[in-house]
Amino acid sequence: MIFGRFYLYLISNLLLSFSIAFASNPDSTSQSIFYVITIEGVINPVSAEYIVKSIAEADIKAIERIIAVNTLGPIRVTQALIGNLRKGEQKLIINITSLMGSIERNARGIGYGYRESKAALNMFTKSLSNELKDEGFRCIVMSPGWVRTDMGGPNARLTPQESISGMIEVISGLSAEDSGEFFNHTGEKLPW
Ligand SMILES: NC(=O)c1ccc[n+]([C@@H]2O[C@H](COP(=O)([O-])OP(=O)(O)OC[C@H]3O[C@@H](n4cnc5c(N)ncnc54)[C@H](OP(=O)(O)O)[C@@H]3O)[C@@H](O)[C@H]2O)c1
Repeated sequence: MIFGRFYLYLISNLLLSFSIAFASNPDSTSQSIFYVITIEGVINPVSAEYIVKSIAEADIKAIERIIAVNTLGPIRVTQALIGNLRKGEQKLIINITSLMGSIERNARGIGYGYRESKAALNMFTKSLSNELKDEGFRCIVMSPGWVRTDMGGPNARLTPQESISGMIEVISGLSAEDSGEFFNHTGEKLPW
């Protein structure tokens, strides 16, 4: 489990762009896992500058790929590791979403594919939190804020370090009542 924590701190000093599950040994069905964080993400094509602006521009194949990575990826990781997580002590599942996945905060449209992929990830995580509540799991979605990564671009407000240290603090303080919620990197609750 030291392995998992090592990675968490490693990310806080590097980039947000990571696609990993924190596991002692994901291949072994006998190993326990404390927590899983899914972070992979794609946007169409790669940068916010190119976000699909109209339904006429929307490319169904690209949307399929975005949903496969951003939504089905975390579902697959969760399904593969749930047995190990049940044997762990902390039972944390953190899926990295986006404010763009909030239906309530969607005031300007655009971003076809990406928005749907994150809204579906949010719904998946909410359902999971309900299913696993009695087993002591805490399952949340977190928005990292606008971060200077390949996806966020050079004008983004936060450094990866700022975003990730904030997220680590929020994750460290999660209670059972927080399960099934949508947070940002400062711990503010966001609307669905
Ligand atoms: N940056 C922001 O401002 C911002 C805002 C809101 C939400 N987010 C969310 O934060 C998370 C991290 O984004 P980021 O800013 O770090 O983006 P990023 O710099 O573009 O990195 C995206 C990461 O996703 C991985 N990835 C892409 N396709 C994959 C696939 N098919 N399977 C596995 N991994 C795949 C990439 O791996 P490779 O490097 O190997 O391609 C890369 O590590 C994403 O979920 C994103 O939606 C970011």
